[in-house]
This record gives sequence, structure tokens and C-alpha cells, in this order.
Amino acid sequence: MKIMVVGGGGREHAIIKKLKENKNITEIFALPGNAGMAKDATLVNIGAKDIEAIKEFAKTNDIDYAVVAPDDPLVLGCVDALNEIGIDCFGPNKAAAIIEGSKVFSKNLMKKYNIPTAEYEVFSDLDAAIEYLETAPIPTVIKADGLALGKGVIIAETREDAKAAVRSMMEDKIFGESGNNVVIEEFLTGPEVSVLSFTDGKTVVPMVSSMDHKRALDGDKGLNTGGMGTIAPNPYYTEAIAKECMEKIFIPTINAMNSENRTFKGCLYFGLMLTPKGPKVIEYNCRFGDPETQVVLPLLESDLLTVMKATTNGTLSDCEVKFKNGAAACVVMASSGYPQKYESGFDLFIDKSVEDTVYVAGAKSVDGVLKTAGGRVLGVTATADNLPDALEKAYQKVNFVKFENAFYRKDIGKKALEVK
Ligand code: AMP
Ligand code: GLY
Repeated sequence: MKIMVVGGGGREHAIIKKLKENKNITEIFALPGNAGMAKDATLVNIGAKDIEAIKEFAKTNDIDYAVVAPDDPLVLGCVDALNEIGIDCFGPNKAAAIIEGSKVFSKNLMKKYNIPTAEYEVFSDLDAAIEYLETAPIPTVIKADGLALGKGVIIAETREDAKAAVRSMMEDKIFGESGNNVVIEEFLTGPEVSVLSFTDGKTVVPMVSSMDHKRALDGDKGLNTGGMGTIAPNPYYTEAIAKECMEKIFIPTINAMNSENRTFKGCLYFGLMLTPKGPKVIEYNCRFGDPETQVVLPLLESDLLTVMKATTNGTLSDCEVKFKNGAAACVVMASSGYPQKYESGFDLFIDKSVEDTVYVAGAKSVDGVLKTAGGRVLGVTATADNLPDALEKAYQKVNFVKFENAFYRKDIGKKALEVK
């Protein structure tokens, strides 16, 4: 069986490594992948957004099943394009991927179907947004409508900052067309939980919960990043909260998408905040999270391809989806300076003893030598019976990875360990 995975980061590496456990798979192609995953997949130099080239490659290489992992190709309709030529895919079609592609869509969906989320207003007119901010409660949260490389959210502590944020999006277009409309929403407080789920549009199966660490520096200081580390399970996410989320958020979301004729199949990611008034949706993603996947999939006991295919075929209710007990931790190693200016192109050494659980996000090969290429270079994951052991193992493994200018947070999981 020949599989194709669209995407090229740590998340895709984790998906590929998990898929490889299925012995019916003869070859996995990564489009484009990166040099750090060359031992696990055949790299194909086609960008994740080049839908026509992806389609052509799938056709000429007799691909049996495709996994479309990143948000951009999903929102652009990669799954629709592959389905047109008879290739089954893991991932939502374009109509359903809008749940991540447009914040205005997702906020209006939640309002219409009574799914708990922050109060909000939508603006397409700059002056109206500025006027609203004269009296809006502060702090406030400004979100660009469309995809913005995970950077489209600004939390403004003052009225002036809020107005500047709106201007930067609507007037200066720092996120391009994504800022044509903005959502201004209520600032919520509480622990954050990421819940990735498998769904075939009828059944929703939450995966083990996780916790991201978005800020660049220890103590949750510094700029927001794509994620500097993760742990699973998330200790804030108790059984009682999970039950409440299932009833008030997960099932209503699946039903809402069906009612809108936008049946969602694939991985639906619920970014939740456990507020004093109960769990609320901060964001939906139409895909696996990065670096959440790097802790969630190593804990998956069931065969990933079988579960993925069940979401495609609508047979998820008959499919066993089992997670291991225990915990996982992932420490992201980045290039110093990330998420702003950083240097790359340094030799990247990953000791054989740890490469099984190292997921490479940014690497290239120069004359056969592996070099860093990107802000987030890789994630080092470990699993164990409990979180303290998983964290200790992950940080030990970090010592077996070397590259110049490496930096990583030293406090991944610290907050989770303090939860009683
Ligand atoms: P996002 O890019 O949507 O994941 O948002 C980035 C981060 O901004 C989230 O992980 C939250 O920490 C924060 N955030 C987003 N919306 C809100 C909100 N309404 N209240 C407080 N924090 C928020
Ligand atoms: N780690 C957050 C995301 O994947 O969007």
C-alpha cells in the first residue's frame, strides 16, 4: 500500500512514524517533507500548497491513501481535488475546513448552535471597529478572520494597543486578505487544553488531551510561537470536564457542521479554555496540532491508518481507538532568536539512540550532511508511566541532539506538574 503525506514539519514526521507501524504500508511519500525525515519517508519536492502538482503526483504514482496534514492545503481544497481523481484522504474537504479557515465562520457557527465561546463582534469596516473599541472591555482579543500562520491573534492590554492591532490588520494588512474582517472578542481566563479528535461526521472520538506551551521563553514569557513543547494528558482535563465537553461542545459541533452541509471528517482540534463559567472554545483547527501530535500519537495504541480510514469511510463507531496509559512529553528545540530573526544552516546531529522519538520540523541536506533549516528545528518526545518520568526522559534525550544556536524551554510540563 502506498501512502502520501502532505506537509513537512514535526507533526507530519510524527504521523509518518506512527503510520509506519502498519506493515501493509510499502511506501510513504512526504510532500515536501524535510531532510530530517528521509529515513522514514520518500521525499518529494512538491510544496504542500501546490494542489495541482500534488494531484498529478498522486495519479502517476498510484497512491492508495493520502493524509493532508496542514491547514493551508485543507482550506484550499486539496482533499476535494484528490477525491475527484478517486483518491481517499484523511482530512476535511474545503467546505468543512472553513471551520479553521474563517474565524468569522466559526464564531457565527458557535453562536447559532449555542456552543460555548467568548462573546464577540465582527467588523469589516475599520472605523466601526475603532469606535467599538472606545468602550469595549479591556483587555480584549483581536483576531484576523483568515489563516495567519498562527499569528493572527493579538491580546491587547490597553485601548490604544487594541486600536493599533485593528489598524495593523485592516489598514496595513499585515496578514494580507486574512485581515479584511476581524473578530473582536471577550478576553477569557483559565487553563488551556488541546483536544484533538477523530471524527467521521457521525461519531467523535477524542484523543488523549494535551497542553501546548506557546510562549518562546520559560515562565510563559516572550512572544507567541507555533509551540515550544507539549505534554499529554493535560491534568486540568478531568473526566467530568471531558464529559461536559463531549455534551456541550464536541457533539454539538459535529451536528452543527452537518446542519450546515459541511460534514467534517478527519481530525478536528478543539482549543479549549476552562473558564470559571465552564469550558469554552478558543479556536477550532481542521487538523492535527503541532506540536500536540508529537505527544498524542506516541500514546496511540491502535493502528493509525485503520482509524484514519474509518473516518473517511464513516465507520468510526465500529473502530477501536485505544490510547496507552501513562504520559508523554515533547521538548521543541529551536534556532536561537525564533520566532523572530534566527540563523540556520548549522550541522544537525541526532544520536541514533534517540532518533526514534525525534520529530524533525526544519532540516535540509547539504552534500549529504543534515543542517538546520527553520525556526523550530525538531521536537524530542518521551513516553513513560507518568508525567515526571516522561519529562525527565525527554530532557535527557535533548542532550543527544546537537546543533549550534539551539535553544529550548527548560520548564515544559512544570505547570502541569503543579496541578493537584
Ligand atoms: P490561537 O492562535 O487562536 O490559538 O490563539 C493564540 C492564543 O491566544 C491562545 O492559545 C490563547 O492563549 C489566546 N487567546 C485566544 N483567544 C483568547 C480569548 N478570547 N481570551 C484569552 N486568550 C485568548
Ligand atoms: N499547537 C497549536 C496548533 O497546532 O495550532
